[in-house]
Amino acid sequence: MLKQLPATHLHNILSLQPIYIFMFNKRIRIKDLLASDKTNYEATVMGWVRTFRNNQFIALNDGSTNNTIQVVAGLGEFDDTVLKRITTGACIKASGQVVASLGKGQKVELKASSIEILGDSDAEKFPLQPKKHSLEFLREIAHLRFRTNTFGSVFRIRQTLAYAIHKFFNDKGFVYMHTPIITASDAEGAGEMFRVTTLPLDGSAPKNEDGTVNYKEDFFGRSTNLTVSGQLEGELAAMAFSDIYTFGPTFRAENSNTTRHLAEFWMIEPEVAFNDLEDNMNLAEEFIKYVIKYAMDNNADDLEFLAQRLADEEKQKPQNERSEMGLIEKLKFVVDNDFERLTYTQAIEILKESNHNKKKKFQYPVEGWGTDLQSEHERYLVEKHFKKPVILTDYPKEIKSFYMRQNDDGKTVAAMDILAPGIGEIVGGSQREERLDKLTQRMEEMNIPAEELWWYLDTRKFGACPHAGFGLGFERLVQFVTGMGNIRDVIPFPRYPKSSEF
Ligand code: 4AD
Ligand code: MG
Repeated sequence: MLKQLPATHLHNILSLQPIYIFMFNKRIRIKDLLASDKTNYEATVMGWVRTFRNNQFIALNDGSTNNTIQVVAGLGEFDDTVLKRITTGACIKASGQVVASLGKGQKVELKASSIEILGDSDAEKFPLQPKKHSLEFLREIAHLRFRTNTFGSVFRIRQTLAYAIHKFFNDKGFVYMHTPIITASDAEGAGEMFRVTTLPLDGSAPKNEDGTVNYKEDFFGRSTNLTVSGQLEGELAAMAFSDIYTFGPTFRAENSNTTRHLAEFWMIEPEVAFNDLEDNMNLAEEFIKYVIKYAMDNNADDLEFLAQRLADEEKQKPQNERSEMGLIEKLKFVVDNDFERLTYTQAIEILKESNHNKKKKFQYPVEGWGTDLQSEHERYLVEKHFKKPVILTDYPKEIKSFYMRQNDDGKTVAAMDILAPGIGEIVGGSQREERLDKLTQRMEEMNIPAEELWWYLDTRKFGACPHAGFGLGFERLVQFVTGMGNIRDVIPFPRYPKSSEF
């Protein structure tokens, strides 16, 4: 309860006793308290009441773990006025002796000598009752869903994965680049951008003679948008630091109402000078395995909880739809096995010849070379055919971005997509076109304005070199590791069409 201030200065001058002040927040995190067998010492815990049984046993959680500490309010030791306020959702501070627990499921408990109500919670109105709620309902109360076991586990794992990503690249000597969020370019050339403007929307914005909005009068003096990818700026930095990565929010105004798309998502984009497509694949595979293993090593409890949750969910499904592996088994399998690598052309052959295709079971039948793979095709390859993550390379240039390196066949580009079981595409990347003439020619063909990307083209004029990179969708990774079915449940406050609450 008492803390010594670093008062050396005063101490020297005045030769006083050290100064003590009272500290409110001298608490032990519940995870740390539960991790030790130690008993018979004083401790203070703070957290939110999950349940209060028999006017005596409080299950208290502070988000450090899904486990709760049992705080025991001895019969007759506390005022009724206090006991009444110990309700599900209330925030309390409890101090007392840590003692061996007689109850099952926990080694120690806290025998409270004092209980302070920090924040009341009206039990009638608190939306989170101690029972199972649907994920859809919890999405509507995303401001409170952190207090459930499922979301506690998901977001602790998200934290671990974010940390592991930085650690992986930092340990390899990569420079973390902060690329801009507001840009004037469309890195993917797909036109799925959110506009950024300070011009009025009531029709009074300044106009050009032809009636179009005059963006010269806008904040940046031109039309701007939220970035869809930090790649182009990342490439600029790689042309100086050799190895860089980005990790930031990206935005896509695609009207996709699926379990794998968000309008605002986080992306990790490494870019490496002197890497070719194979180096790029090796880096991506090593990276994915590293971060998954890191979560398995550091979030065992949370993963076990989510694995159990998933297993219970699977039991509701008909036998033939159940997955063959449990969550932890699946993660271990990915970490321990090589990803399957093949070209787009080989994949098309496999799909075309599959019984699935012949029996017309694909919604989009696979007929010939050149069209983009639908997610049903990706999932067939990964889940039915190879039963492991797959890296597809060398896609037709028509279905890929302008910056990808053109192969000698004149038809394909040095692209790579990584497809994961249950998720589909988790990584998209490529070797980049470093040859100025080939790049400008492709941009012309695709109507990408060269004058707006003059700075990007400059790197092809001044010391260009082979280089490659990829983008990993962070939420798809979190989805894969946690086994959550919907991407909206692995980001705190999801943005998708018609939804921007919180
Ligand atoms: O394949 P994409 O569009 O590639 C790029 O943006 C490149 N500039 C990356 C690079 O080479 N540096 O997106 C990369 C990844 C996808 O594989 C997917 O995991 C994720 O970003 N992604 C999304 N995640 C959630 N919601 C969306 N709407 C997403 N769109 C892409
Ligand atoms: Mg892609």
